[in-house]
Amino acid sequence: MRIKNRKNTSLSKSSRIRNNNKVIKNSKLKPYYKTKYGEAYFGDTLDIVKNIPNDSVNLVLTSPPFALTSKKEYGNRNEEDYIEWFLLFSKEFKRVLTPDGSFVVDLGGAYLPGHPVRSIYQYELLCRLVKEQEYFLAQEFFHYNPARLPAPAEWVNVRRIRVKDSVNLVWWLSKTEYPKADNKKILRPYTNAMKSLLKKGYVAKKRPSGHDITHKFNKDHGGAIPPNVLELGNNDSNSSYMVKSKENGSKPHPARFPSRFAEFFIKFLTDEGDVVFDPFAGSNTTGYVAESLHRKWIACELIETYVKNSMLRFEKEPDLFNTSDLVIYGNNI
Ligand SMILES: C[S@@+](CC[C@H](N)C(=O)[O-])C[C@H]1O[C@@H](n2cnc3c(N)ncnc32)[C@H](O)[C@@H]1O
Repeated sequence: MRIKNRKNTSLSKSSRIRNNNKVIKNSKLKPYYKTKYGEAYFGDTLDIVKNIPNDSVNLVLTSPPFALTSKKEYGNRNEEDYIEWFLLFSKEFKRVLTPDGSFVVDLGGAYLPGHPVRSIYQYELLCRLVKEQEYFLAQEFFHYNPARLPAPAEWVNVRRIRVKDSVNLVWWLSKTEYPKADNKKILRPYTNAMKSLLKKGYVAKKRPSGHDITHKFNKDHGGAIPPNVLELGNNDSNSSYMVKSKENGSKPHPARFPSRFAEFFIKFLTDEGDVVFDPFAGSNTTGYVAESLHRKWIACELIETYVKNSMLRFEKEPDLFNTSDLVIYGNNI
């Protein structure tokens, strides 16, 4: 890929044109790179977010570093100071969200160090987000990864006193009780049993549970309404990001979420042209999916290698993107 920089005259011209069309409007801040729909920033989100105007983001979708007991390579906070740290960010997210916007946060669980008992930080955080920062809990989701490895080894594999932890909690929060949402955009294919019911017709009756199944049940709505359990393995090992990381000899980000996770919430909670913001972007799965769904996007990441490698997602994807839309500024801010 041809790396362009800002000293190049032709780029300066094109970047002048593109700057009129920035996602973060009227800001002097320079992205690390930009595409047709989005901008990726390198730095601390707490600084960068100050440049995002009030009421301008339709969806904040993210998976922050978790309050883990074993440290990841990009660093994690201890449980005690995690919540205070996170609330500084979430206060800003609320400011930048449109009144009908949503904040979706994916949080992994943790054991207390040295003990076979769980931290309750996800629930404590939720209580403070709702009670202090006045978010609404629109709905909770469970992000289930059936391929998760058993851990911690001491409790699960050695002493055999706990089972595999394969669920992340996902809080879908909002500024009002009626955030923009449309489950018709995320319907699943009907099961064969449902298809045959639709064909044969269903006899309206009251179920033993008390649910009144009326004749309306016979109507084909184009698919089934999904549940709040998202079963998604992280099986994107053949994605161009993984393939190119391998070719480049660069290590892929260690904690990516599956692109179908981002796809679910972006389709459900936004329309084309809306703005999606991932403040802890890592390999920029969110930006990549937003681009393919024609949503504008903003991504922030603290570690330069991750921002740089995330550009691999936008290279040579003739079906999705025009590479000439990718403009790279690099660490020139
Ligand atoms: C769990 S990872 C996100 C992975 C991402 N969802 C993906 O699919 O690649 C969290 C990321 O947040 C970044 N991070 C931590 N603190 C940050 C901060 N203050 N500002 C920006 N990014 C930060 C870490 O470097 C890490 O890459």
